[in-house]
Amino acid sequence: MITFDSGLFHLYNKEISYVMGVNSHGVLEHLYFGKKLSGFHRKNFISSPDYNFQFFDGKEFVNPDPFYENVTQTEVGSFLRNDLKPASFILEQDGDDLTDFRFAEYRIGGRNLYGEGIPHVRRLDQEDALEIICKDARRNVELHLFYTLLEENVLIRSAKIVNRTDGEIVLKRAMSLTLDLPFEEQRLIHFPGQWANERNFCKEELAFGLKTMYSLEGRSGHLENPFFILQSRDTTEDWGSCMSFNLVYSGNFKNEIFVSSFRGMRVNVGINDDNFSFRLKPGESFSAPEAILCFSDRGLNDLSATNHRLIQRHILPEKSQMRKPLLFNSWEGAGMDFSTESILRYMKKSKKIGTELFVLDDGWFSSRNDDRHGLGDWTVNRKKIDLKKIADACHELGMKFGIWIEPEMVNADTSLFRDENLIAHPDLEKRFSRNQLVLDFSNEAIVDGVLHQIADALKDIPVDYIKYDMNRYLGDVFSFHTAQGEIFHRYVLGVYRFMDGLLKIFPDILLENCASGGGRFDLGMLYFSPQIWCSDETDPVRRLYIQYGTSYGYPLQTMASHVSKAKGIYESKAMIAFFGTYGYEMNPTLLTKEEIEILRKFNRLYRLYHEDVIENGRFYRLSSPFESDFGAFMCVNDSKSTAIVLFHNLRKETNQYRFLKLKGLNKNIRYRWRDEIFTGDYLMNVGLNLSYFMEQNSTQIFLIRKTVKGGEK
Ligand code: GLA
Repeated sequence: MITFDSGLFHLYNKEISYVMGVNSHGVLEHLYFGKKLSGFHRKNFISSPDYNFQFFDGKEFVNPDPFYENVTQTEVGSFLRNDLKPASFILEQDGDDLTDFRFAEYRIGGRNLYGEGIPHVRRLDQEDALEIICKDARRNVELHLFYTLLEENVLIRSAKIVNRTDGEIVLKRAMSLTLDLPFEEQRLIHFPGQWANERNFCKEELAFGLKTMYSLEGRSGHLENPFFILQSRDTTEDWGSCMSFNLVYSGNFKNEIFVSSFRGMRVNVGINDDNFSFRLKPGESFSAPEAILCFSDRGLNDLSATNHRLIQRHILPEKSQMRKPLLFNSWEGAGMDFSTESILRYMKKSKKIGTELFVLDDGWFSSRNDDRHGLGDWTVNRKKIDLKKIADACHELGMKFGIWIEPEMVNADTSLFRDENLIAHPDLEKRFSRNQLVLDFSNEAIVDGVLHQIADALKDIPVDYIKYDMNRYLGDVFSFHTAQGEIFHRYVLGVYRFMDGLLKIFPDILLENCASGGGRFDLGMLYFSPQIWCSDETDPVRRLYIQYGTSYGYPLQTMASHVSKAKGIYESKAMIAFFGTYGYEMNPTLLTKEEIEILRKFNRLYRLYHEDVIENGRFYRLSSPFESDFGAFMCVNDSKSTAIVLFHNLRKETNQYRFLKLKGLNKNIRYRWRDEIFTGDYLMNVGLNLSYFMEQNSTQIFLIRKTVKGGEK
């Protein structure tokens, strides 16, 4: 519901409220975001405390104009007026960049800001949408603020700037969301990382001053994720209030949290404005990507469930709701060293461990026998392999066939490698990473050229899946085609153009994303590809941390995870990979009988339960490896008849009691665990007795099933 009464906007559903008010200065004030309110007491809410008084000759002198944006919660932070918090928008015309937007009008009703090719939250019918139009105090520039409330306790925000002046304006900052709140000693949870160590859980106290989390890599990156959480001081996994923020964007983002000396807090979420200046000619507009705001007063598990539901229902491509095929990828087993015969052998063997989709990774094109060659020349290497024969044989074996591409990159030995096609500074020595440079995807002609090449190479190949990779970040940023301040954003639009075009040419493929592992794990990518290779790290202990951290913002079904080649710990690897998409990545011809048996066992588990429990069930974190000596989480299916629990002991313990309390079961159902029968309330209140699992790095997976006769009491 959205109401507007006496200058007050109230957006609410069954669970949350968002309140704004227009004050006598025409400034749109932010008044409240949180648990649903039945009404708002405007008079009680002093948004601009009358703090500026002094005493003269014993008489109190009160400032006649008590309105200071600096001590006011506003929806739009001005720049160079009297708001000293980080601004929401900065626009410059003729060297003058004082920016101040004031309320003009509003409309209630849905409008789609973005075309199909630009990632956004796919709306369902029950949406409540509000558009507020503000005008710059001095120039004929409009700011449209968009708010859409979804039933899942989610508010979607975005903004559009329209230049209605006769001259050019330069947009130097355009935040998708500004949220001002009272500072109540909230804690910040964010997810920094690096290659092979993505999305670590990091909880911090906030103090006065500015905390910024950002990417400047031209992609969302390994170093930080656009997703973060603010929680009340004592919030736990199952109790207390918390809110999360995310951005539907795959490029440079900036998340700012500013705590002012007045105990106010401003959160800004949007495109990183370092090296951002976007020119708008008369009549042109700029749409900022959508930001997502979720709230829960039931703790972090509930907040994650909200984010998971949102992604499943409103971000992932519609077709991705079907069960994921069990995937085998050639990379860790074969690298680029393969032939038609060796791949045919791989395929036959992999079929025996239950593979449903066989993926030929890097090395099938041009002169690509190592990472110094071939990127940018997308022609099948016919001297090396018969790709058609491989794909057909794969289908004959009853498996789907997939292939790897890395369209944004170029090696020095291909004809695309020319200064005018690169993101690189012509005056500087070229700095390669993994022997490759980045193509200038801010130039649509290059995007379309590479797309055309790849489509041509694959036109006779029956492809069911494509892994879209991106193995280095943007550096020495310069383009012959695009103005400096627009490169990063136009680059991302180029990537979206490519993916949209690819899906138009191959409408039925399953697209998986990857950027040296999980270097572009964001909602923009998930809009096109329902799964992302979570990390190049497949060691089970490190993976446990990576998948645990990722679970705060993203559902398990999006985390591509494979059992990889290293010997000895297949079982642990399979258990961790099971809590993702599940697949294999090794040389299947080297598997021993025992290893094949292990994989077959998981294959059976996969077929019986993966779709129902892991992909479509509800996920709960039980114990954090970041904060305790063991990691544990579980999934329960919708009917609560089956749960699967993962437990990983991090260090060797001596004798001690250890009970793991489960979550989300039906308290009245009788469940079987190992050979004993327990009621749901017992398992949730007493727990599984894990006092016997004390070995270091031991991983266990437990299947908890409703007994045949054990229906509800
Ligand atoms: C990256 C990916 C790997 C693999 C290689 C191929 O490192 O993360 O999974 O595809 O590229 O070169």
